[in-house]
Amino acid sequence: MRIAIVSDVHSNIEAMNAVLGDIDNLGCERIYCLGDLIDYGPNPCEVLDVAMERFDLCLLGNHEEALMLVAEDFNERAMRSVEWTREQLNSRELSTEKRKAYWNYLDSLNKVRQHKQGDLLFVHGSPRKPTHEYVFPKDSLDQPKIRSMFAKFDRFCFCGHSHIPGIYSETGKYGHPKNLNNGELDLRRFRKLLVNVGSVGQPRDHDTRACYVVIDGSRLMFRRVEYDYETTVEKLRAIKELPTMLADRLLHGK
Ligand SMILES: [Fe+2]
Repeated sequence: MRIAIVSDVHSNIEAMNAVLGDIDNLGCERIYCLGDLIDYGPNPCEVLDVAMERFDLCLLGNHEEALMLVAEDFNERAMRSVEWTREQLNSRELSTEKRKAYWNYLDSLNKVRQHKQGDLLFVHGSPRKPTHEYVFPKDSLDQPKIRSMFAKFDRFCFCGHSHIPGIYSETGKYGHPKNLNNGELDLRRFRKLLVNVGSVGQPRDHDTRACYVVIDGSRLMFRRVEYDYETTVEKLRAIKELPTMLADRLLHGK
């Protein structure tokens, strides 16, 4: 079965729609999301509409947690985005049913902090701390961290959260997708592997294109999809409550 794994959409509907087009072209049968549907971007409602209609699974991200429960380690800029997003979801321009549907959906994510399927584990952050811990390329040099993360899953673990795509081996090697043949990998080559699927709506690896992953049996594909980020940037700049750096970073993919 061909499964698309997306993460960190962050209210970016232009990126989300471009990725959905790619997912449909590839004939994916399932879409799993590893969390952070909302915040940072200008279209939280539209992204939630897509999630409710198209995603077969969605995990709780730290941004959903911040909106619903508690904002752990959020700086002032991130808090402004949480508050602005909350206002959009409570807007009187939305029908009561719609508002209820959004909040009920977000509430339902609270029960899904990780998902296990056969020898696959899906988390937002890391296998050690599913909602909060980041995995960065520099962590490949931190053997204690690698060892304790790899002890938490059987074969393959998929995460998001850092917005930096790549593969991590248990021997402490990190590989960016651009160094893989065509962005593809045969999973049978690895006894265990940790895969960061990157970010749909706010890539931070100096590539402006939306990033996600497709798995089909033992075949792993990193996908990069061009989208109209100038439209997203324009929308963001028109929202005075949000910091301008949220728009600027989309222009540079960082
Ligand atoms: Fe995120």
